[in-house]
Amino acid sequence: MCGIVGYIGHKQAYNILIQGLYRLEYRGYDSAGMALIKNNGILNVYKSKGKVANLEDEISGKDYEGTIGIAHTRWATHGIPNNTNAHPHTSQNGAIAIVHNGTIENYNILKEALIRHGYTFSSETDTEVLVQLIEYIKIKNKCTLFEAVREALKQVIGAYAIAVIEKDNPNVIIAARKSSPLIIGVGDDETFIASDATPIVGFTDKVIYLKDNEIAVINRNAPLQISSIENNEPSQLDIQELKMNVAQLEKGGYDTFMLKEIFEQANTLKDCIRGRISDNYEQIILSGVLENKDKFINANRIVIVACGTSWHAALIGKRLIQEMCLLPVEVEYASEFRYGNPFITNHDIVIAISQSGETADTLAAVQLAKSKGAFVYGICNVVGASIPRNTDSGTYIHVGPEIGVASTKAFTGQVTVLTLLALCAGQIRKTVKKETVQEIAKGLYQMPEIIQDVFKLDETIRNLSHTFTYARNFLYLGRGYNYPTALEGALKLKEISYIHAEGYPAAEIKHGPIALIDKEMPSVIIAPNDSLYDKIVSNVQQVKARGGFVIAITNKGNTAMKQIADYCLEIPEVPECLTPIVVSVPLQLLAYYIAIYKGQDVDRPRNLAKSVTVE
Ligand code: M6R
Repeated sequence: MCGIVGYIGHKQAYNILIQGLYRLEYRGYDSAGMALIKNNGILNVYKSKGKVANLEDEISGKDYEGTIGIAHTRWATHGIPNNTNAHPHTSQNGAIAIVHNGTIENYNILKEALIRHGYTFSSETDTEVLVQLIEYIKIKNKCTLFEAVREALKQVIGAYAIAVIEKDNPNVIIAARKSSPLIIGVGDDETFIASDATPIVGFTDKVIYLKDNEIAVINRNAPLQISSIENNEPSQLDIQELKMNVAQLEKGGYDTFMLKEIFEQANTLKDCIRGRISDNYEQIILSGVLENKDKFINANRIVIVACGTSWHAALIGKRLIQEMCLLPVEVEYASEFRYGNPFITNHDIVIAISQSGETADTLAAVQLAKSKGAFVYGICNVVGASIPRNTDSGTYIHVGPEIGVASTKAFTGQVTVLTLLALCAGQIRKTVKKETVQEIAKGLYQMPEIIQDVFKLDETIRNLSHTFTYARNFLYLGRGYNYPTALEGALKLKEISYIHAEGYPAAEIKHGPIALIDKEMPSVIIAPNDSLYDKIVSNVQQVKARGGFVIAITNKGNTAMKQIADYCLEIPEVPECLTPIVVSVPLQLLAYYIAIYKGQDVDRPRNLAKSVTVE
């Protein structure tokens, strides 16, 4: 949610910043902007509404000289997407420029005070208030930029990752964070800052994850200094190795990141289970669980918190854990949990699921659960993100960078890790049979091959999708393990095609939604050959009896379903609890091709951003 990037070093900053913005664009694409300082003390600021390409056009032919600069791609919170509200924002005297990711909650009070001191504002943003405050403090206290930023941040309530530069000092960037991510890339005589590692990849593999409430002084003529905003206490420089390569950030011959990520799933699932299943399928080796056996043995209850797609994975996790561990499991939207006075004790395990590891609501839920004494376990993808750093233990899904805004490979990775976790904890608790572990572990082990087989549906789905570009509504129905998969299928369609879609437990439709069925309302019905198959056949019949159009996802060779449904997408048979992984692939492809036929920008759907770092 908003991406920021900064550079100071011996190279021209422009190319690094523009490439960084392209890599961060998945975090927001309402507008983009850049500020560069020329050595003779000129601050050039460029902004453009819309995508980064517009900014590139805007700057083309202009003066973009400078070895220091900051840049931003915006997901609007305060104020509509336009040039005025785009970052960087500059202070009233034009000397200071800032880029910001986050929200300043007390900006109105600060703004009123600044207006009383003679400040005027051109944008509707909270960020402009912060840069004016910095200028005000700097002039009033006759202090350095670092001191002014630090003092201003002490007055701010809210979340921020910021980078600040000053026209007359082309040697320094000040960066700071609280509840929004910021990474420093340490190169040879050059330093990078960015909201995530993607702009830094290829330049250096040495990174420092700035911690909450830390401020950094990046001075080209002096060693990097990081300290606490509150008391200026110096922090240890914890330099870590960045394990990401440029190829992972490119489309690799695919038209879009989303399609690449869908087709990566055979491999990403391999990476996800690597080293986690013993050769004879008898043991699940999930270190985060094994190192905390007591917690899993003595737990009274598990609460899973997440948002969006990760919340759908959580619903599948609930069934898995209840079945394998005989423990009550509750699933909560992180945004509801954090304000819902949750009853949490030190006998509870709270599992937080998040692809980005930065989702503001999930992070807040983690912090709340910890404050109540729960053992908090994270299931994340982005290594070193805020959630894994705030949890007691956890497991990475290891599916590689997910850049398409619509989550695909992260979902299947999350469900895979939840399956491993349920089996591993079930073994420790002695609540799962050895044969069950073996059957499911073997199924997981074979999953990459199975997914490869499911990809053969690609052409069929592509052709089928064309039929549905007319649709204004879709229904997704499933039962048991596949009720959450139906929710996920509906979310995928909504977010990239803008067709309204509802996921529903199939048996519930007769309590209301069946009234919507007519020949213009396609229903995607998930009907694998599982324990609820006969029941779902009745649901298919109910839809057909009312003139509905049914696309059924069922197992290979199911001739009976072919007689009833209008289209059948046939998938290989797997153990029941693994069907969501297999089923989600045709659902992703269906949403993808419908959106493409409708001409939508699937990697950058309107109004969305990949990483939701604001409330
Ligand atoms: O990074 P997270 O998993 O915490 O993100 C949660 C949601 O914002 C995310 O899953 C969102 O719903 C996706 N756009 C869905 O495709």
